[in-house]
Amino acid sequence: MQIIGTGSALPEKVVSNDMLAGFLDTSDEWITSRTGIATRRLLSNDNLGDLAIAAARQAVASSGVDCNDIDYIICSNVANNYVTPSLSTIIQGGIGDECSCPCMDLNGACAGFIYAIDIAEALLKTDRAKHILIVCAEEPSKFCNWHQRETSVLFGDGAGAVVVTGGDGLLARRVTAKSQKDVLYYKRPLETTPYDRSTENAEPLVMHGRDVFRMAVQGSLADINALLTESGLKPDDIDFYLLHQANMRIIKSIREGLGQEEQKFPCNLQRYGNTSSASIPILIDELTTEGRLKDGALLMLSAFGAGFVTGAALLRWGKAA
Ligand code: ACO
Repeated sequence: MQIIGTGSALPEKVVSNDMLAGFLDTSDEWITSRTGIATRRLLSNDNLGDLAIAAARQAVASSGVDCNDIDYIICSNVANNYVTPSLSTIIQGGIGDECSCPCMDLNGACAGFIYAIDIAEALLKTDRAKHILIVCAEEPSKFCNWHQRETSVLFGDGAGAVVVTGGDGLLARRVTAKSQKDVLYYKRPLETTPYDRSTENAEPLVMHGRDVFRMAVQGSLADINALLTESGLKPDDIDFYLLHQANMRIIKSIREGLGQEEQKFPCNLQRYGNTSSASIPILIDELTTEGRLKDGALLMLSAFGAGFVTGAALLRWGKAA
């Protein structure tokens, strides 16, 4: 597998910590020191489907592949307005009238991009597809209770996309899950029926921050070290660590666990907050646009999220031959 095109799209609305402090009992000082987040982009007049399509179009255009030659679309999304049809089919309609490939949504929470890479690699290896569009589109701000400061300050909305094709860029990968429902969940409302005796109620995002913090750091370090061992590499051999942009203190703990310098951990969390599974592909698109990813560079991707799921991928950057 090799990434041959990238794209991203963020909502227009920029929301600063001071703006949140206008209606929540919080402060710029608390949010910045505990999370590293200064601003986030939130959907306002725009909608997630349009963001996802914009990111997808950019990725397809930069790959040089005709949209009719995309033969699978995988969309990573936790939740959006449409429970059905899938967001991937909505994206398909937005990239070209003639595009008629299979479409699939997956919910790998914040690790959804790594899960999508894992599935894309399998489809490419078994000749089920030649060009796959992966779009991660998320609106986690819509899961939060905006009267609660514990979660609403953390998130931002956005979309990131890549086009992948066959190649030798994916050196190793690992995805894990360990059922752990209570530390991080969002229960959306469903219609009731005359027969429904369930006592389950919808509930905005609930997060036990300290448990998530511990599981994220442990899980990410375990994944990264496993891939390094499998590949016969040391932490120093990696050019960039592209981590899920959840929280600057989580990233710092992982960085210190690997004994690596800050410059190897590019971040966009300060500007965008936690955009769930979109955070890594948005970061990849930014680094590509800035020309910071040189051919041959070794990239370690690592993400973690509700489930509890984790995933990591070791990539050698460069266009397929
Ligand atoms: N503003 C001001 N005060 C706040 C806020 C806020 N936004 N949120 C919580 N507080 C208060 C709490 O009420 C508490 O007050 P108390 O001591 O009077 O009870 C105090 O700050 C400390 O709260 P803690 O939850 O203990 O703060 P902590 O230092 O653990 O930081 C945080 C909270 C940032 C959520 C941390 O636990 C964390 O980073 N967890 C990881 C969670 C995460 O990143 N999740 C991302 C989403 S999931 C994912 O992407 C996988």
